[in-house]
Amino acid sequence: MSPLLAALAPDSSLVAILYIVSFSLFIIGIKQGTHPTTARRGNMIAAVGMAIAVITTLCLKGIGNWGIIIAGILVGTIVGAVASKRVKMTEMPQMVALYNGLGGGAIALIAWSEYRHWVHLGDVLADKASFSHKFLLDFDNLTFLVGKNFSVSASVPLEVMIPTLLAMVVGSISFWGSNVAFAKLQELIPGQPMGLPGQKIINGLLLAALAVGGVILAINNDVNDLSQPLFIAMLVVAALLGLGVVMPIGGADMPVVISLLNAFTGLSAAAAGIALDNTALIVAGTLVGSSGTILTLEMATAMNRSVANILFSGFGSTSAGGGGDQEQRPYRSMNAQDAAIQLAYADSVVIVPGYGLAVAQAQHTVKEMADELQKKGVTVNYAIHPVAGRMPGHMNVLLAEADVPYDQLKEMDEINPELPQTDVCVVIGANDVTNPAAKTDESSPIYGMPIIEVDEAQQVLVLKRSMSAGFAGIDNDLFYNEKTAMVFGDAKSTVQDIVTELGNL
Ligand code: TAP
Repeated sequence: MSPLLAALAPDSSLVAILYIVSFSLFIIGIKQGTHPTTARRGNMIAAVGMAIAVITTLCLKGIGNWGIIIAGILVGTIVGAVASKRVKMTEMPQMVALYNGLGGGAIALIAWSEYRHWVHLGDVLADKASFSHKFLLDFDNLTFLVGKNFSVSASVPLEVMIPTLLAMVVGSISFWGSNVAFAKLQELIPGQPMGLPGQKIINGLLLAALAVGGVILAINNDVNDLSQPLFIAMLVVAALLGLGVVMPIGGADMPVVISLLNAFTGLSAAAAGIALDNTALIVAGTLVGSSGTILTLEMATAMNRSVANILFSGFGSTSAGGGGDQEQRPYRSMNAQDAAIQLAYADSVVIVPGYGLAVAQAQHTVKEMADELQKKGVTVNYAIHPVAGRMPGHMNVLLAEADVPYDQLKEMDEINPELPQTDVCVVIGANDVTNPAAKTDESSPIYGMPIIEVDEAQQVLVLKRSMSAGFAGIDNDLFYNEKTAMVFGDAKSTVQDIVTELGNL
């Protein structure tokens, strides 16, 4: 290794300064990510911060194995670059799950490697002890204990053992849980809740086993022949717990679970940072842990469900766009030509996008439609529900991709009071987030969820392929409202037809 690269002592002030710079950039990046106009820049700033943290760490004294490090960087870069180009926006939740799982798995392996480092120290000392008599060494905070019959072990300080165990357990849960989430969303395994009979009790026993194992390792903190297998057994039990907790959750609830597991990975990274005495890892992990927790709570609130209900109710077992037999009730339908006429003669139009818009990739065509309407003097705004689509900010990202002006994107609380004065609401691929049952039907699974109050508008157009249910698997009274006309078809081709008709008017 080049002497230049090996120049930095881990405790030098230069390293401390570089780490402070890197996590300051993370914080600025997250702050900028809170608004669509600055989110892209925020991402770049956080990436620069991460590059500084990684390069600084690689330059620390004692970093070796350059062949493996360079091979790892190359593989990671190629996989990341190809995935970022290929993955569709609708597949983003499973991509986040996969990356989050890799993060958790990496942390669990780091914790294991840190533990093995102590095992190695014990072995070295055992060799030395065979040449000498009873002795006690204490340097660099490491206490090497020599027993009565010259058996020797390295004792792991408690302030290292506890975070190492936490990092290993939480990282392992996050790895296995995230992989189940990925497999369900990618439809590699069925999205329905799955699990063994008495799964909750089994999970409770696994958790208790982890707690007992952790206490034993922490109390007898010297590395010996017994502690190593116990450490590995805990790694396996944590893996089983990760599988056992996520398997019984319906595929459609996975975005919330992924956000929760993301928070877990952050916490495990922070714990690993404490064990390794690495400030950048502590701060980055804490940031991920806290932002993941806030996001999870916000998503749960926007769905009017508790995190416990999401984790334990088995709700969300319908796969995306799930149908089911719907009661036959009368509804009105309309073709694209009539829809275009209705829109062209409106003064104000509010577009309500949902998951179907993402599936159809209709964002650019929708922007064209809005442009056509604005040319005719119609005021156009977009109503953004916090959980429309399948991931946080899904609609904002899609519409930003089509260069929809940010000032036309109105949050739910802002747009709802304007809807009674709105001439036409165009619901494009949205369903649950417009369902009046959330306000009126106490028996509905979405009762209490705040909605875009589309039924308050003067006229409503609903663009979707059929009368099928959405994520919650329930019928939507809006579709049968006398103000509503259904315009059936794939969202992109329907909107394209409307654009063509608008051009002819
Ligand atoms: P949904 O209620 O899932 O409804 C989407 C609708 O889009 C479906 O009814 C489907 O009807 C239609 N659709 C699908 N493909 C289409 C296409 N190609 N063209 C036209 N329409 C198409 O979506 P939503 O209103 O956005 O609500 C989101 C739901 O997901 C909420 O229940 C929310 O709680 C849940 N959820 C959200 C998140 C986040 S963070 N966003 C996370 C977890 C769960 P057809 O099949 O008839 O076309």
